[in-house]
Amino acid sequence: MSEPRTIAWDWYPGTIPINAIVDETAYVETTYSFHLFHSERTEGLRIGRGASTYLGTMFDVGSRGRVSVGEFALVHGARIVCDAEIEIGDYALISWNVVLMDTRRVPVDPCARRRALERAALHPDRRLDGAEAADPIRIGRNVWIGFDACVLPGVTIGEGSIVGARTVVVESVAPYTVVAGNPARVIRQLTAEGDNK
Ligand SMILES: CC(C)(COP(=O)(O)OP(=O)(O)OC[C@H]1O[C@@H](n2cnc3c(N)ncnc32)[C@H](O)[C@@H]1OP(=O)(O)O)[C@@H](O)C(=O)NCCC(=O)NCCS
Repeated sequence: MSEPRTIAWDWYPGTIPINAIVDETAYVETTYSFHLFHSERTEGLRIGRGASTYLGTMFDVGSRGRVSVGEFALVHGARIVCDAEIEIGDYALISWNVVLMDTRRVPVDPCARRRALERAALHPDRRLDGAEAADPIRIGRNVWIGFDACVLPGVTIGEGSIVGARTVVVESVAPYTVVAGNPARVIRQLTAEGDNK
């Protein structure tokens, strides 16, 4: 049985979950980010080489959820709500208060929603059980997501794209595309490398 993994500079008395693979060059600011991490998968989280997760990042992951944070990706205080799979690509930049959610957690039907709230009240951690269908989210390589944006279930954001601040993304975004607004609309195209202003 291996020793619980703590972080030397941590202000929170937590540990890194046993099924989280954190590269030795990655930076995790605090284990408070795992306070809502309940994945039971063999590999519930992977944080790649040179990646960073800063204060305010919360891995709110259900028992079947799996999250990956790519190499040199920077997650600057986002809530990652995952019951299936959320993949954050290499060099992705996720700003503060972004919400990535691959699950709705609560039923649309009013009666079923009441039952879900009753179950939450009886749950040992008083949490919703995430029994609703989930649909993976994929954030491509080199994507930038501005602050307060929200990415909903099933969305893929293509390589190099930008999501404006406070945007709500309900449909997938093609590579090298800037989207903004609620719902997101395309405001311009980028070229793969080079002459973007
Ligand atoms: C998306 C963004 C990069 C676009 O910048 P830009 O290409 O210079 O865009 P412009 O300012 O020329 O705006 C183009 C149009 O998009 C609209 N727009 C831009 N950003 C928007 C946003 N976040 N939400 C809604 N509409 C937005 C503008 O109103 C303008 O609309 P119009 O053509 O009808 O007049 C920028 O607006 C943004 O949101 N940046 C995120 C900043 C951030 O989160 N920083 C955190 C640090 S990590």
